[in-house]
Amino acid sequence: MAVRRTQSSGNGEPPGDLLTQLDSIRSEALAAVEAAGSVSACDEVRIRYLAKKGPIQDVMKLMGKLGSDERPAVGERANAVRDAITEALAARRATLAKSERAARLEAEFIDITLPGTPRPLGSIHPITRTIQEVSHIFRGLGFSVAEGPEVEDDWHNFEALNIPADHPARDMHDTLYLAGSPLLLRTHTSPVQIRAMMSQPPPLAIICPGKTYRRDQIDATHSAMFHQIEGLLVGKDVAFSHLMGVIEEFIHAFFGPDIPVRFRPSFFPFTEPSAEVDMLRRVVKREGDRVSESEAWTEIMGCGMVDPEVFKAVGYDPEVWTGFAFGMGVERLAMIRSGITDIRLFFENDIRFLSQLG
Ligand code: PHE
Repeated sequence: MAVRRTQSSGNGEPPGDLLTQLDSIRSEALAAVEAAGSVSACDEVRIRYLAKKGPIQDVMKLMGKLGSDERPAVGERANAVRDAITEALAARRATLAKSERAARLEAEFIDITLPGTPRPLGSIHPITRTIQEVSHIFRGLGFSVAEGPEVEDDWHNFEALNIPADHPARDMHDTLYLAGSPLLLRTHTSPVQIRAMMSQPPPLAIICPGKTYRRDQIDATHSAMFHQIEGLLVGKDVAFSHLMGVIEEFIHAFFGPDIPVRFRPSFFPFTEPSAEVDMLRRVVKREGDRVSESEAWTEIMGCGMVDPEVFKAVGYDPEVWTGFAFGMGVERLAMIRSGITDIRLFFENDIRFLSQLG
């Protein structure tokens, strides 16, 4: 747009002409604003129309030649035109800035939803979980957790527990001995009782979870390696009723609050009297379409009052101290609770089994 300077010569510019010029500056500028396709194009329009040396300024310079009564109208119009252009520019600039920003973000978008490397979550082995749960229950009853070696000697595993060399109970244990060594793989967790009592004075209350080994043929209910949890409580005036209370408390916490529990006389060389603990279980059987339900007493652990011979072996005075002990199979606990019928599932590491129970 060029201001028609030729018309500015002469004695007086007719104000009507200047007003027309301002109007056409406005419409030309507004069209340029409309046509601006970018923020920088807007800036160019602003410099072209609103800068000090722009067309509006040129018209203003001609005002001096007008009469004083004509000037205000032209000045007012010039201001209105400047305002209209400024306003249109600001609006256009804001719209363009917004869409330019959106386009930039779109262009810089990084797709992080592409398939990554799947990392399946692991789960705690059902045996470990069972041990943790049982330990938690006994901790709540004031027991602490003790551990002992899996490779034992004859004295800790048998002798100190009142199982002499010719004792028939040794046959039940069918021991795995280390070749060329007097050592053996512990056949039960009871040697940890002995180690605990040898290392601390009474009173004490411990449970000892761990691996045990026997020379068993492996089948659905036998494994050469399995887990036991041993319990031992020694104090003054500890009675069989205390043992019964603790065991019942445990069974109700682990299997369910209303489960009937019974104690059946039994024999262990290291406890006297001894008992076998049974719990009443609901057994659901499915044969084809027929589902039958029955109840059965199921053996859950062995227990008894610590034999005075055991106290003598570890140097506790059997006249002062009494106590009880119990021992249970961890696989058995888990099998009964989860209805598992084959112990081998625990050791085959089939992820489908492990992730169901983990
Ligand atoms: N040690 C016994 C077993 O392995 C279980 C048991 C422990 C029984 C403590 C009584 C007391 O069969």
